[in-house]
Amino acid sequence: MKINTLVTLSAIAVSLSVSAQNDLTFNQNIYTENSAKVNGQTVEFRAYEGIPYVKNPVDSKFQTLNIYVPEGYFKNHTISGYTIQTAPIFLPNGVGGYMPSRPLTPKIDEHSHSANALLLALQHGYVVASPGARGRTSQNSKGVYTGKAPAAIVDLKAAVRYLHFNDKSIPGDANKIISNGTSAGGALSALLGASGDQDIYDTYLEQLGAAPASDKIYAVSAFCPITDLDHADAAYEWQFNGYNDYKKMDISMLDYHIQRKETKGTLTKDQQIVSDALASQFPGYLNGLKLHDSNGNPLTLDKNGNGSFKKYVISLIQDSAQSALDNNRDLSQFKWLTITDGKVTNIDFDKYRTYAIRAKLPPAFDALDLSAGENELFGNASTNAMHFTAYSSKNSSTDNSATAAANVVYMMNPLSFIQPDQQGIAPHWRIRVGTNDRDTSLAISAILATRLENSDYDVNYHLTWDRPHSGDYNLDALFSWIDSISQN
Ligand code: DHB
Repeated sequence: MKINTLVTLSAIAVSLSVSAQNDLTFNQNIYTENSAKVNGQTVEFRAYEGIPYVKNPVDSKFQTLNIYVPEGYFKNHTISGYTIQTAPIFLPNGVGGYMPSRPLTPKIDEHSHSANALLLALQHGYVVASPGARGRTSQNSKGVYTGKAPAAIVDLKAAVRYLHFNDKSIPGDANKIISNGTSAGGALSALLGASGDQDIYDTYLEQLGAAPASDKIYAVSAFCPITDLDHADAAYEWQFNGYNDYKKMDISMLDYHIQRKETKGTLTKDQQIVSDALASQFPGYLNGLKLHDSNGNPLTLDKNGNGSFKKYVISLIQDSAQSALDNNRDLSQFKWLTITDGKVTNIDFDKYRTYAIRAKLPPAFDALDLSAGENELFGNASTNAMHFTAYSSKNSSTDNSATAAANVVYMMNPLSFIQPDQQGIAPHWRIRVGTNDRDTSLAISAILATRLENSDYDVNYHLTWDRPHSGDYNLDALFSWIDSISQN
């Protein structure tokens, strides 16, 4: 959404009294009054910022929550049909690249001059709560790593527990928490929705002194989730095997907010051998999931990676192209589409892979030299980077490399939990990935969405035409979806 604005952000300190002992009780009286102009409309809101959401933080800069409430609710107004009691709580995390992340703030972006998701959410009448979280580079003063997996998901859960614990005093409805995130943040959003109240995280939450409350959420919004990390290498090579030319992104630019640098190249013979090995693993994994389409037909792959699952992934691209066409987009530049009488009738998947070209070298996530961001994610208190797949552990190019504990890998994967009648899973899911996103295989979001659908959760999954790896777009559509699941 493009917004031309004059920005007025004014903050008035209303009350300041910080209690020394943090008993995790929300204090309604400590806030600032802010406002911002969005599309000619002044959006007024109360800002409760920097709230510690655990009693014993290990990184107090990041383990905090910002809560924002539309001012109208304090004047008994109704906004988009919601009241101070019924408003959903929009829970955007700012995690990118599995790095540490501060809580987000509502603002107008300096570059695009657009209001961000938080500000638009407030205008729409949602209560907004943004949790910070530790990440893969977090360290304490003694040099001990404090943000390795599963720290980020534990932190998001602690923040959700705080919201439930204080539901009576925090505006909005803690039974209507809608998590939102992009990329690594999208993966964590999905993981939060999949792992609600799973006791495997309890010892971590107890150590932090998280509030004794549920960490279930109502809905997940995930943009381009970088998830199912322990199978993402195989999925990537399933998609790109045989396509050896790449436009590699600069690894230090993983945060999607930052301009990415690309290096062109071609896989070496050794890298092609790695690609072959990983690609050959994927059909076994996929078939083991026993997925089926909406008509009950099995989604499978033969040993060469062909079959109904591949056709399904291609149909997702086709549906995306059709939606773009139906919205009057000119698709004539996309020579890999066949369009007849206003219908997209064929996708040339081989040519698609020269459009959405390989961006990562095999293994894409568990790098043999431990150089991927995900290797750092799976480090531990004393080891910066570790392997997390059997293949890369076995074929590591690093002497004395270590491998992450299996239960930690399990705790980072939403697919560990998604099955029918599982207690604690968010009932509603919205997943968006661009057709030009090359950060992970399209198979990854397709598996997540299908596994959820097959387990009878409500899933809204669509590939967004020609979009690269990015998030928080078409927010009016996201908000319509939130309203459709909240106003019932
Ligand atoms: C992100 C991007 C990646 O390619 C990745 O492997 C992990 C995280 C990100 O943008 O958050």
